[in-house]
Amino acid sequence: MKFTKILSILSLGSLLFGAHSVMAAGDPTAGKKVAKKCAICHTLTKDGIQKLGPNLYDILDKPAGKIAGYKYSDAMLNSGLIWNATTFTDFITKPKKFVKGTKMGFRGIRKASQRADLLAYFNTLRDTPVAAGPVGNAKNGIKSATRYCADCHTFEKGGKVLYGPNLFGSYGQRAATIKGYSYSAALMNSGLVWNDVNLDSFMANPEQFVKGTIARFPGLNSAQSRADILAYIKTLK
Ligand code: HEC
Ligand code: HEC
Repeated sequence: MKFTKILSILSLGSLLFGAHSVMAAGDPTAGKKVAKKCAICHTLTKDGIQKLGPNLYDILDKPAGKIAGYKYSDAMLNSGLIWNATTFTDFITKPKKFVKGTKMGFRGIRKASQRADLLAYFNTLRDTPVAAGPVGNAKNGIKSATRYCADCHTFEKGGKVLYGPNLFGSYGQRAATIKGYSYSAALMNSGLVWNDVNLDSFMANPEQFVKGTIARFPGLNSAQSRADILAYIKTLK
């Protein structure tokens, strides 16, 4: 089956199920209740002590594994994550699946609404409250990837090389390592790994992020679309 066909079936699916996948903004008051589950192992107040897990005050928008005086697992230390709305939500959905080898012995929060509430609550645990970044939705990401990237990239396994490389399995990999593609020296020497932050920055403005890249793509302004495409790319493994 042609990829475009698969895409149209998938995007039909997301049209049909779109109503369910829209991410409702969370309620911080409800989130505070959910956070009781976390408080068994984490303090949530400013300068709180390290318990079984690290203090989580003001954790959003911070790199993982950086709370002084806490001994993390190697998995967390080497994760390269930044705790934004998407990574935080992915982590608390299934901690051990999202960060393989983490020592956070918590099964995860199954209900999307509770995760949204929790995120809203964590967003209040800050010195300077800011609006949370958008949470990515993989189904919407298929649509956005078709619209913004498909002229130059295929996404399915073994997909054709167009003007840009096939992007299946690129998440978590080093940049410029997909076989059968002739990259720019700029990207080959970038030393980048395609994690959340790097992918988001690249999509936002390739030229600015990797000077000399041959990706003739002006960049995608919508943070929501970038988060959605990122969520989609993460499923391609
Ligand atoms: C059973 C104990 C336990 C529970 C319950 C728990 N955690 Fe954790 N958490 C940990 C441990 C231990 C770590 C350190 C993980 C590592 O180093 O791999 C951690 C790490 C984290 C981190 C990474 C912090 C950093 O500095 O990078 C976040 C974010 C987090 N937990 C969020 C939560 C949230 C939100 C909840 C509640 C929904 C929760 N945790 C429930 C034990 C727990
Ligand atoms: C006009 C064509 C074009 C468009 C549109 C485009 N790209 Fe690219 N992309 C490229 C080219 C060409 C490269 C190779 C860049 C280089 O070697 O410097 C590239 C490289 C990449 C890479 C690095 C792959 C690797 O193997 O390291 C990623 C990731 C990527 N693009 C994602 C995207 C996403 C996501 C979109 C849509 C939001 C997009 N691109 C839109 C042409 C494009």
